[in-house]
Amino acid sequence: MISKLSKYSVKESIFQDFYECRLKTFALFQNMDEATFCSQPHPDFSPVGWHLGHIAYIESLWLLERCAGSPCLFPQYSKLFAADGLPKSERVKLPNLEEIRYYLDTVREKVLEYLEVIDIEQQERLWRFLIQHESQHCEISSFVLELVKSQESRGAIHVRIFPPLSELAFKSQECRILPLEMIKIPAGEFEQGSDSIKALDNERFAHRVYLDTYLIDRYPVTCEQYRVFMEAGGYQNSRWWSQSGWQWLQTELVTQPLYWCDDAYGGKLRSWDNHPVCGVSWYEAEAYSRFVGKRLPTEAEWEKAVSWDSQVNRHRTYPWGDEKLTTQHCNYDRLIGKTMPVNAYPAGQSAYGLHDTLGNVWEWTASWFHGYNGFQSYPYTGYSQVYFGDKHRVLKGGSWATPPWILRSSFRNWYHPGVRQIFAGFRCASD
Ligand code: AVJ
Ligand code: FE
Repeated sequence: MISKLSKYSVKESIFQDFYECRLKTFALFQNMDEATFCSQPHPDFSPVGWHLGHIAYIESLWLLERCAGSPCLFPQYSKLFAADGLPKSERVKLPNLEEIRYYLDTVREKVLEYLEVIDIEQQERLWRFLIQHESQHCEISSFVLELVKSQESRGAIHVRIFPPLSELAFKSQECRILPLEMIKIPAGEFEQGSDSIKALDNERFAHRVYLDTYLIDRYPVTCEQYRVFMEAGGYQNSRWWSQSGWQWLQTELVTQPLYWCDDAYGGKLRSWDNHPVCGVSWYEAEAYSRFVGKRLPTEAEWEKAVSWDSQVNRHRTYPWGDEKLTTQHCNYDRLIGKTMPVNAYPAGQSAYGLHDTLGNVWEWTASWFHGYNGFQSYPYTGYSQVYFGDKHRVLKGGSWATPPWILRSSFRNWYHPGVRQIFAGFRCASD
């Protein structure tokens, strides 16, 4: 009886999550014009609408073909929407939004029929993976949409839309000056990774890691802090840059973060000062860190400071504990639609007192993306394993556009160090 009840509730919760995740996906694409749907503002990222078709393709492949043993429902889409089908530049000839919606709806109808009849205990991990796969493609679509927007307002690429005055007033009183605080994390072991059924292959297995004492910033680096680096000629002086970073800068020729905004009023109040820097490459994060005499934290240092509760010797799912994620804790899921000041969510702080670790901006770490000991690919090597090695740097924490299903301390994201189209910032550490 008890086991029947719990099986029922796993199905219910998966049904609910599939439903909610899909609602958000549709909301993101709703009323999108054809031009935007097909546009590919950056060659390293697939066109906006491709992600939508790919979500249906992966759901159909893994649940209907691989598990239920059904034939492929839309063979005409396989080549286009498979991750390894076509080069990104050849993904612009897309079916229209209605056709892709029909694809998604048809697959989903069959998937829900299948959910009715299966023993979910055998498959829970796969279903949880698929929600997180969709979530990631939704967030990537947000990145691409932001690029489309910035290219539409050509010339104004670096100007963010200025917030209403009411927000300015709030800001000027309460959060103008941030203490430049670092928090000392005492030497000792903590638990990295996760064994949860929701944990993706690259988070497994949970394992103990010993770290020496280190310091880590309480907040992500803000625009106000980063401005000092810019005004001191940070982008013009090779001294702060690693060799590969300086090389990157010579080809990119950038002088500020991608989502930088200058004060639209020209007065003393700079509304974005307390917002985290957003849209920097790993190289810019590294250069800034050196400029202030610090360094980037390793992934383990970030994760310990965010998730470890030394009082009870336990890892927390979220910085604040294991209780459900809410809008009181952080800025996520496009609910606000932009970054927020780094000190806006005191309820979200970690046991060690770090603020703004989940949501707002992804945070670059010093670590390359590698598998943990005992790593096993799931559900396919192309999810994590093919990216392992000294090519991608790990990012932690999630952004203002990250859906809730992939927001947690152990989640690992990764990109080439030169990528700045994602919503990424950083915080610094030191010995
Ligand atoms: C973890 C965001 C780097 O975009 O390649 C989506 C996520 N993997 N489908 C990526 C992913 C397979 C992945 N990132
Ligand atoms: Fe994918």
